[in-house]
Amino acid sequence: MSLLKIQDLKVYFNARGKTVKANNGIDLEIRENEILGLIGETGCGKSILGRAIVGLLSDNVEIRGKIVYKNEDILDLSEDRLRKIRGKDIGIILQNPSAALNPVLSVGNQISEIYRYHENMGKKEARIRTAKMLEMVGIDPKRMHEYPHQFSGGMKQRVMIAMGLALNPGLLIADEPTKGLDPTTKDKIVDLICELVINRNMSLLLITHDLGVAEKMCDRVAVMYAGEIIEIATIENILSNPQHPYTQDLLNSRPKKGLKPTAGESPSLSSPPAGCKFHPRCRCVIGECPKTHPQMIETENGTSVRCFLYEDN
Ligand SMILES: Nc1ncnc2c1ncn2[C@@H]1O[C@H](COP(=O)(O)OP(=O)(O)O)[C@@H](O)[C@H]1O
Ligand SMILES: [Mg+2]
Repeated sequence: MSLLKIQDLKVYFNARGKTVKANNGIDLEIRENEILGLIGETGCGKSILGRAIVGLLSDNVEIRGKIVYKNEDILDLSEDRLRKIRGKDIGIILQNPSAALNPVLSVGNQISEIYRYHENMGKKEARIRTAKMLEMVGIDPKRMHEYPHQFSGGMKQRVMIAMGLALNPGLLIADEPTKGLDPTTKDKIVDLICELVINRNMSLLLITHDLGVAEKMCDRVAVMYAGEIIEIATIENILSNPQHPYTQDLLNSRPKKGLKPTAGESPSLSSPPAGCKFHPRCRCVIGECPKTHPQMIETENGTSVRCFLYEDN
């Protein structure tokens, strides 16, 4: 069953006379109870997609397409309705907790505010709920009066998880939740998110550039390149039988730490190459690649791939 369905999503920024096509025709479904990974190199449009889903984009942006969550198109909603959905139905853990947390508010107050705003709770009740949330993410509730700078990177990430899950949303979007953490802390955060998401029967869109993290957590993975999805498959298929040459490169260049960029530069999102956007860096170019933009094609085992190599002749 589909929980969220994105159809032909286009997110274009107007920046200094240029149009940056950060998301350019995204089709993606997040199913109930699934952990869906979104991977791809820096700048390909992952965070923008996550932000578009919760309506957190700047004003210089043009958005087209549909983002349907439980029969409502998020793109048609008023700011007021959107603010209610954000947190309650769809939680988000933004990239970089140090920037996302308010430095002048205690950690406890930042969580309490969520309950006060969304559930009209009194101060005392909100504080009790906050303590429970902190405990759930492995932080001693006594630390609720402390400020973000008193917390380590891993602890800040736990606070972000508590905030993302405070209202028990059906869908959580976690944007690079393990970035910058040491390996032991990373493992703990991965385990914590998985446990919470599975126990609460939630769905998770996990944005990561770390294939190791995706392997541990995800059911399916969508690979993004230059504002487009170029492959979607189960994590097993991505690892054992990657189809798109870009996905293959990601796997081949996989150090223990995460993804290394493929040879060559990421394309400009304001003037991407014609045809397949990956063709200038691709090892397998055929005649069509520089000329025609490939569509997604379904191959085997439910894998979909945007590549002419898999087109029937
Ligand atoms: N407010 C903005 N104005 C113009 N361009 C933007 C803005 N925000 C993001 N972008 C551009 O959109 C592209 C995708 O960004 P992002 O989604 O953050 O990438 P990722 O998360 O995959 O690293 C980048 O090229 C970035 O420069
Ligand atoms: Mg990002």
